[in-house]
Amino acid sequence: MTTVFSGIQPSGKLTIGNYLGALRNFVRLQEEAECLFCIVDLHAITVQQNPVELRQNTRELAALYLACGISQKSATLFVQSHVSAHAELGWLLQCIAHYGELGRMTQFKDKSAQKEVVTAGLFTYPALMAADILLYQTDLVPVGEDQKQHLELTRDLAIRFNNRFGETFTVPEPYIPKIGGKIMSLEDPLKKMSKSDESAGAYLSMLDEPDVLRKKVARAVTDSGRDVRFDEENKPAVSNLMTIYALCANVTMAEVEKRYEGQGYGPFKKDLAEVVVGVLEPIQQRYRDILASSELDDILREGAAKAEQMAAPTLKNVKDKLGFIVPA
Ligand code: AQP
Repeated sequence: MTTVFSGIQPSGKLTIGNYLGALRNFVRLQEEAECLFCIVDLHAITVQQNPVELRQNTRELAALYLACGISQKSATLFVQSHVSAHAELGWLLQCIAHYGELGRMTQFKDKSAQKEVVTAGLFTYPALMAADILLYQTDLVPVGEDQKQHLELTRDLAIRFNNRFGETFTVPEPYIPKIGGKIMSLEDPLKKMSKSDESAGAYLSMLDEPDVLRKKVARAVTDSGRDVRFDEENKPAVSNLMTIYALCANVTMAEVEKRYEGQGYGPFKKDLAEVVVGVLEPIQQRYRDILASSELDDILREGAAKAEQMAAPTLKNVKDKLGFIVPA
């Protein structure tokens, strides 16, 4: 059976970008593969986090996974720091990764640009991400386009380790949606939509109240002209909004163009807000129920126990291959 692994950082409120690029596909994959979904809190602390908010964000993210349809019966949901094998293999892979290749990661360059303090953890982030994936002999990693380079590094590290020490890791493949792999900011369509964007108007949070979603869509930048036409080069803002519409309404881009032919941006944006609300409102309702229930902690405890068991043989094998004395 195919093994799928992916993680999301509890670094803020998830955006519709996280949903359309990643989470929505997790839900589909859990029906056909052995899936592990992780809340990667160790990754979140590579930039400064407020401890109270981090704890809250972690629980909220777990509830959101479940509200989107991740089921404990079909997948393993857990918190990264609950399974110590992640940090351990992360260190071991830091000793396989090269300084130069980590320095070439665009996410590191973006997140460290103009920052007074850059943690060493932000630099070695991709080695920890490789550990997350390789621990479970993962075949497929559903992610957004921004993670493609990290996935390539994960593959390189797996191949390097296998060549040096003998077959140890499955070399994983990325699973990046053709449409929705990179949802852009509502304020700057050349920038990725991010949950940690300083401007709340740049993203549609999955937990924004319906009226807030409507306001944000109404204020989203558009391009010159008035045609609702998909043209990423010349109409990046409208093309981004059309992508969100097509995915939320489950229609093709051609259908979106046809629906709004000759109507201008106004009616399109009004309907876009409603299709987004239509997708997010039921998720928000389930989310509130789950967050208020006591099942969350049990699910995370069970998930961690299962993940720990699954990770143990790989970690033991890696230590053995490296020449450590592994207790019998
Ligand atoms: N804008 C996006 N469009 C499509 N997919 C996206 N993802 C993130 N942003 C978009 C995908 O969501 C998953 C979880 O992301 P993450 O939390 O691990 O971190 P990230 O990629 O750095 O996402 P953010 O929202 O930009 O978080 P912050 O602001 O904390 O850095 C990944 O599969 C990602 O590709």
